[in-house]
Amino acid sequence: MAKLGRTDIEIYPLVLGTNTFGWNTEEAEAHAVLDAFTAAGGNLIDTADVYSAWAPGNVGGESETVIGTWLAKHRDTQAMVATKVSQHPEFKGLTAANIRAAAEASLKRLGTEVIDLYYAHFDDEETPLEETVGAFNDLANEGTIRHIGISNYSPERVREWLDITERHGYARPVALQPKYSLVSRSTFEPGLRDLAVAEDLSALPYHALASGFLTGKYRTEADLKQSIRGDSAARHLNPSGLAIIEKLDQIAQARGVAIASVALAWTRTRPGIAAPIAGARTADQLGPLLASAELELTRDEADELTALSDVIGA
Ligand SMILES: NC(=O)c1ccc[n+]([C@@H]2O[C@H](COP(=O)([O-])OP(=O)(O)OC[C@H]3O[C@@H](n4cnc5c(N)ncnc54)[C@H](OP(=O)(O)O)[C@@H]3O)[C@@H](O)[C@H]2O)c1
Repeated sequence: MAKLGRTDIEIYPLVLGTNTFGWNTEEAEAHAVLDAFTAAGGNLIDTADVYSAWAPGNVGGESETVIGTWLAKHRDTQAMVATKVSQHPEFKGLTAANIRAAAEASLKRLGTEVIDLYYAHFDDEETPLEETVGAFNDLANEGTIRHIGISNYSPERVREWLDITERHGYARPVALQPKYSLVSRSTFEPGLRDLAVAEDLSALPYHALASGFLTGKYRTEADLKQSIRGDSAARHLNPSGLAIIEKLDQIAQARGVAIASVALAWTRTRPGIAAPIAGARTADQLGPLLASAELELTRDEADELTALSDVIGA
């Protein structure tokens, strides 16, 4: 288990992604996923106020609402919830007023009094960073949020954020949430990785399964029709991507685990990564994701995967 930033909190080696909740995961199935995740020891659930506004008929906040109805039945849970601000259709951007209003709306939907980990979801370059960082600090000081995270920021802007906290004695961020997987490394490496390592920021990356591609279920054009997410996985369906799937398959067979378990375990062999985020649309899909938490790859296995991934230069 890795620590969350400089806190004493230990993070289970898999963070649960929930952007399908209220979209193509109905409430009862979402609760079954949460039951299985927490029963296995999972202790960090990742959502955002905007999930899943893109689904027809949704307005945003559906994922938080579904998590809230589960929390209402599990008041004694040890699991923490991370949510994010800046993308909800009614609460766009990162002005101080918007951050406060969005946090209050998230708390209402979650039915809790505090947000365990609150992320700036995407950079808002139109708002002075001093204002944004000050607003997160205020919420932390008031006890509305416990910890601060930064998602999808450039290394330069994370550096600026840290400089502001140092200048003013503000609460430090503990986590980064970049896009990162065997088929997509350039957002995190090298800039954010170096900052994560030097500044004790836990990187909890999304895209760790590349929208399902790294489960091995998309090997031909025809396979892409299996799911609405096939379109997002399509860009990885090329000789380099398939070479990675083949190597994952070899390791998975030798270890008696699923391809997805190996892909997720690989992320934890990388400097700066505390635990990957992965989403399960159904409770059945969760098994291999949880199995990744028990899987430690050998140096050779990790190096072989990294070498194939280097070819993509992704
Ligand atoms: N910070 C950000 O900007 C950001 C952006 C995106 C996501 N996220 C977070 O990261 C989480 C993960 O999202 P992601 O987009 O990166 O997705 P992902 O984890 O790369 O892929 C999840 C998808 O993989 C498929 N899958 C999972 N387990 C499977 C299994 N055992 N067998 C077959 N297919 C399986 C499912 O696809 P099907 O639905 O096709 O079955 C599932 O919806 C989100 O829920 C969210 O919490 C954050």
